[in-house]
Formats: sequence, structure tokens, C-alpha cells
Amino acid sequence: MSISVLIHIAYLIAAFLFLMCLKWLSSPRTARSGNMLGAIGMLIAAVVVLLDQEILTPGLILAGIIVGALIGGIMAKRVQMTAMPQMVAILNGFGGAASGLVAAGEFVRLAGIFEIPTVDNAISIALGAAIGAITFSGSVIAFAKLQGLISGRPITFGGQQAFTLILFLITLAAAVGMAVSPSYLFLILLLIVPLVLGINMVIRIGGADMPVVISLLNSFSGLAAAAAGFVVSNPILIIAGTLVGAAGYILTVIMAKAMNRSLSNIVFGAFGGEKSAGQLGAGEDRPVRSVSAEDAATVLAYAQSVIIVPGYGLAVAQAQHLVAELMKQLEARHVSVKFAIHPVAGRMPGHMNVLLAEANIPYDKLFDLEQINDEFQRTDVAVVIGANDVTNPAARDNPDSPLYGMPVLNVDQAKSVLVLKRSMGSGFAGVDNPLFYNEKTMMLFGDAKKSVQDLVNEVKNA
Ligand code: TAP
Repeated sequence: MSISVLIHIAYLIAAFLFLMCLKWLSSPRTARSGNMLGAIGMLIAAVVVLLDQEILTPGLILAGIIVGALIGGIMAKRVQMTAMPQMVAILNGFGGAASGLVAAGEFVRLAGIFEIPTVDNAISIALGAAIGAITFSGSVIAFAKLQGLISGRPITFGGQQAFTLILFLITLAAAVGMAVSPSYLFLILLLIVPLVLGINMVIRIGGADMPVVISLLNSFSGLAAAAAGFVVSNPILIIAGTLVGAAGYILTVIMAKAMNRSLSNIVFGAFGGEKSAGQLGAGEDRPVRSVSAEDAATVLAYAQSVIIVPGYGLAVAQAQHLVAELMKQLEARHVSVKFAIHPVAGRMPGHMNVLLAEANIPYDKLFDLEQINDEFQRTDVAVVIGANDVTNPAARDNPDSPLYGMPVLNVDQAKSVLVLKRSMGSGFAGVDNPLFYNEKTMMLFGDAKKSVQDLVNEVKNA
């Protein structure tokens, strides 16, 4: 069998592993193995390309694998789960930068050989450079926002939409120019103008829309990689890039739908920029009913049905194992316990599923928003643990709320509500939550880990 056939078989195996990876990632049961398959596919693809094109010697490839695995391993161990979105953002940025550099490098190489690249090469180079540059600068800004290096709120200025349009038109014109008459001038324009476009697009997005933008940038990084694959005529890069582009786009649409917002509204809408948290009445002086763990536990112990709503605060407090213990205590008293998972609860897609799986809470107790929302009205107690925005009834009832239109869990329809959080502070979107002032809501203030521990102890004694 010739080397070229072997190489194509290796590509085929890698492509098959990528597809299986995506398939298995779609269920919590198989997600870990799916991730492993994807990593093996990527290793095969990278090693085969490097050997095939004689880019590096086997010794250097091994050294690269060791250094890369060490850096990746340390980063994966050290990153907090709540900081995953910014990690994904910066990795997307690296992907975009790499694709842009491949495109630019190929232009320089071809220009050296033939003086001008062919039209199809020039189009691929234009796409790779422009999408790569937008992805890079947009992702760096998203990282800086989520890491708190710059304000997380939308940054807007007069004429911003027109400015965006002009930048887009210059990029388009440069891409056409590159296809018709390739030159360094167009290459430089295709690298620099989209950089400004990426910054301008992402600074105006903030609040709860950030996860959607990260997912969109993830899709862009895939498209940039696919364009780079066309540039260097590498089928596996085209396949992997297209898969990332498509998967990222599907996730973007699912998340935008979960917030009941259109993609264009998210990208051009400057969400959350109009009103500050103060104007929206966060922490305003209305009476709330604060209860002790003992009183709350009594309500829980004598309920028939309980729905637990986990949110970002549960992840911060790392109370998932105690929540599993609470579930067991309640079930021992024949209380039915279910978990309601909002698609954007926490700080990354699937955040709550991962957290609860870590505590071995059975998957069949986890229900998506559409599956469980009608059940709240028949439920004795809804227990909200470190969740806020995803339970905000203003998103349903108040057209003035910046969250208006985002589907929320109908926690306020339960017979009674128990909210565990540390203060009256707002959530990610910085808006007040009328649920806390509802007369059937009991507030158990404190760190979620301590509060849940107290509830476990009190339920045992009830
Ligand atoms: P949030 O609305 O952010 O509310 C979390 C609440 O947890 C806060 O109000 C905070 O109140 C409380 N909290 C924090 N630390 C705590 C602790 N140690 N113990 C007890 N409570 C604690 O969370 P959510 O309801 O999960 O909503 C998620 C929000 O994040 C949405 O706006 C969503 O759009 C956005 N977002 C989501 C994602 C994805 S993809 N899931 C990514 C980025 C952003 P106190 O300070 O008073 O304790």
C-alpha cells in the first residue's frame, strides 16, 4: 500500500473519530468518551500532517506533544469551572490567529513562487485572513470582558452601526480585490480591518449575551480553520473546521433561542447597555422574608414534591455533593425530588449538568426547561440554589426588563419558593429579581455550601 493511501486512511479515521466525538458529546453519559475520541482524532490528524508534509522531524513532533500536553494538562487542572467561558474564548482566539497566519503565510509563499496566487487560492486566503482576524480580536475582547480586565457591559458610541458597516464593506472590497488582482495591499487590509471589526462587534455586546457570542466566535474559528484547510489543500483541516463551524453555529442558535433573542439582535442590539443595575432597582428596599435553616428544612421535610433549581452560585460554592446528600435525605422521607436545568444556568453550556453529574445525581432526575416548566404549579417547594436570572419572572411579565422575552423557569408558580443565596445582590445580567419579594418566597441567606449543609442536618432531625 502506498504512503499516500495510508495517509488518506489516517485522515479518514481522524474524520470518523471527530464525527463520533460530536455524536457522543451530545449525551452526558457518553460525553467524556466522546471528548477522548476527539482528542485522539486530533492527535492522529496533526501527527500525520506534520510527517506527510515533512514539516517536522519525529523527534520534534514528540517534543511538541510533550510540551503541549504539559501546558494543556496544567491549564485544564488549574482553570476553575466557572472560568471556562474565558478559556474557550481565548482558545477560539488562538484558532482564529493560527488560521489568519496560515493564510498570510501561504500568500507570501505563493507570491514568492508564482508572483500571484490563482483565483481560488486568493479567495481561500482572503476568507482565512479575514475570518481568522475577526475571530482573534473578537475573542480577545470576549476574554478580557469575562476575565474582568475591561467592563463587561456593552461599550457603545455614536455611529457605531455605520462604522461597523463601513469596516465590513472595506473587508468585502479587499476580499474581491484579492480575488481579482491579489496584492500585499489587499492582504494587509484583510488582516487589519477585520481586527478592528472584531473588536467593534464584541465591545458592544455584554451581559447575558456573552455566552452566545463565545459560541458564535467558536463557530467562526471553525470556519477560519476550514478556510485555512482550503488554503493549504488539507482535507482533514477542512473537515475539522467545518464540523467546528457547524457545531458552534448550532449551539449559538440553541442558546439564542433559549434567551428568545435573534442572532442579529444579540450582535447588533447592545443588550443591557441602556440601564444600569441601580436604575433597575437591584437591592432596592422592599421587604423580603428571611428564614432560618431550621424553618426551611421543616417546609422541605413535609413537602411531597420538590424541584431544585441550580445556578451559578451553586458552582461557586461547590455545594453539588451536599445537594446530592439533601436529595437523598428528602427521598428517604418519600419526597419526590427533581432538578430543573435552564439552558444558560451557570456560565457555560451544560454547566449544571456537569456539576450535578460530578455529584452522581442520576441523569433521569435532570429536566430541561420545556420538560419541567409546567410542573412548578403542581410542586410544593421550588428550591433555588445560587440561581437568579434564570428564575426572574420579569423576563416573562415585564416588557421593560432587559431580560424580557428570555424563557425562564416558572419557579414563582410553585406553592412555595426557597431561595439560597448570600445577599440581595443581582445575577450576571445585573437586574433585580421580583421573585425574592414574592410573598411565598423564603430567603435563606448565606453561602450555598453552608446553607445546604444546614438543611441536610435539619432535615435529618425533622
Ligand atoms: P446568576 O443570575 O448569575 O446568579 C447567580 C447568583 O448566585 C447570584 O445572584 C449570587 O447572589 C448567587 N451566588 C454567588 N455565589 C454564591 C454562593 N457562594 N452561595 C450562594 N449563592 C451565591 O446565575 P444563573 O441564574 O445561573 O444565570 C446565569 C446567568 O449567566 C444568565 O444571565 C446567563 O445568561 C449568564 N451566562 C450564562 C452562561 C452559560 S452558557 N450558562 C455563560 C455566561 C453567562 P449573591 O451574590 O447574593 O450570593
